[in-house]
Amino acid sequence: MHQSLSKPESRPAPLGWLEVVAADSSMDQAARELETHLQSLPLPQGRDRSCRFILEVGRCGLSLQDQSQPQMRPLRLDAVGMRRRFSGRDLLARSIGRRCRSVVDATAGFGRDAFHLFHLGKRVIAIERSPVVAVMLADAIDRLVPSARSDSLQLICDDARRRFTQCDPPDVIYLDPMFPDRQGRSALAGKELQILRALVGDDEDAGGLLHVARSVALQRVVVKRPAWAGPLGSVPDLEYRGRAVRYDAYLTA
Ligand SMILES: C[S@@+](CC[C@H](N)C(=O)[O-])C[C@H]1O[C@@H](n2cnc3c(N)ncnc32)[C@H](O)[C@@H]1O
Repeated sequence: MHQSLSKPESRPAPLGWLEVVAADSSMDQAARELETHLQSLPLPQGRDRSCRFILEVGRCGLSLQDQSQPQMRPLRLDAVGMRRRFSGRDLLARSIGRRCRSVVDATAGFGRDAFHLFHLGKRVIAIERSPVVAVMLADAIDRLVPSARSDSLQLICDDARRRFTQCDPPDVIYLDPMFPDRQGRSALAGKELQILRALVGDDEDAGGLLHVARSVALQRVVVKRPAWAGPLGSVPDLEYRGRAVRYDAYLTA
């Protein structure tokens, strides 16, 4: 894992709304370590008094089950979901600009866009503030990124606003905060979106994140928005319009 896991000294208190389980007895130790690791992080409190999520540690990686949606299969970040998306009009690739070599994906989520940018050959730092989402993504990066290229896709679990000042300024900062709650989201499957919303809420502070990002990016900040919604900040300098989503670019150079 890219995130350091400390050895547990005693069984941690249950996390309440999140239960960490091993898929089989050979994964017990790994599950205990992950539980202790999550315990040490500032997880949201009081989200749901009854346990709602099950994070399963298996030989083939992590999977996350929302117990309140038993009909949904557990979420697992696999190679198929994270592979390069071939598309005639790659709006994300166009929106970051031809000169872009490095990107901070400051709202990494489950990493679909971060992996896409990585597959485009960019140096990517992905930042995700939800520890549960971040451990899922760290696990996917460990399994799916060849070690020879691991420097090109790094993950930080923190609030991006705190980290911007600690990273070398990237050419582009990419933001994809949670869309306002309305149907029509295409980039995330329904299951992922439901789990994300239950875990992280609505990202209501995204306007502030854009403001800080514009003072840091060397070339531009790109914001993904639903096609039907207005811009997150002021009128963007460039717009890349698709059927369901739009990428708004704010030039900084
Ligand atoms: C819609 S999801 C991003 C989906 C992602 N682009 C993908 O392709 O899977 C938004 C994510 O941004 C994260 N986020 C929002 N504001 C953040 C911040 N200030 N710092 C770090 N992560 C943030 C949320 O926790 C959530 O996981």
